[in-house]
Amino acid sequence: MNRVVVVGSINVDLVVTADRLPRPGETVGGGQFSRHFGGKGANQAVAAARAGASVTMVGAVGRDADGDASLAALAAVGIDVSRVRRVDAPTGVAIIAVDRSGENQIVVASGANAEVSTEDGALRGLPDGPGVLLTCLEIPMPAVAAAVMAAPRIGLRSVLNPAPGQRLPADLLATGPILTPNRDELLATSGAADLEAALTSLATGGTQVVAVTLGSEGALLADGDRRVHFPGQPAEVVDATGAGDTFSGVLAAWIADGRSLDESVRAANAAAALKVTQPGARGGMPTRQQIEAALRG
Ligand code: RIB
Repeated sequence: MNRVVVVGSINVDLVVTADRLPRPGETVGGGQFSRHFGGKGANQAVAAARAGASVTMVGAVGRDADGDASLAALAAVGIDVSRVRRVDAPTGVAIIAVDRSGENQIVVASGANAEVSTEDGALRGLPDGPGVLLTCLEIPMPAVAAAVMAAPRIGLRSVLNPAPGQRLPADLLATGPILTPNRDELLATSGAADLEAALTSLATGGTQVVAVTLGSEGALLADGDRRVHFPGQPAEVVDATGAGDTFSGVLAAWIADGRSLDESVRAANAAAALKVTQPGARGGMPTRQQIEAALRG
């Protein structure tokens, strides 16, 4: 069974699209406003569900209208939200600016996401069985660490999207989660100055498999000493928000389906290129059929 358990963040995204992104202290006018569902964890859950996985979401939202709507949007694509807690804090919000080339800037108010606990991460009560745990760093690190530690006990392999980028505790790295950083997050995660040094440092720490997203240049799979580059797919970029989440969600879904690492990164890379053609973090996230069609070329 292609089971994916996502322990992560849930946000509402307030998006302004403008000609260009502001510099610090600058105001840019002429933008267009839209609201979307977001949060790295919830986006990843939707990407995995659209790719055919059976998804359970673990996280927290407020007892507010944004929380109601966020849960309804996840349930509408078949995600089990019974493990998302309602807490006395507002649902997370992200303020996002997107420019004409699809590039973005994001500021997040964590709100309820900061309440995700080690108890949530412990995954107690979930049935044993094969699958993938997918987590990210928009929730407190102790909850992430608890989930990564608990995953093998119930048969889950861990995929960790280290975003927003920050150093990872040594004991967490030593469990060997598959990492899915972009280039900046890879450097932040490892503390190294360049890509190869970062991969070497992570491998020494226990993490042998890293799938690095490279934007229009595609993705790089590091599997021990092996390096495989998956070229970028041509795409008309409207909004890059959620491209990394699409990559992580599809990677998790494909691995949960028993596919090889190479097959999974290839599918995730193709899916991310489809996502960027539509606005909003979840706009353009492909279905399994669309991913398979893209892979056939
Ligand atoms: O990765 C994109 C996501 O980051 C957005 O949906 C926003 O909510 C922030 O969490």
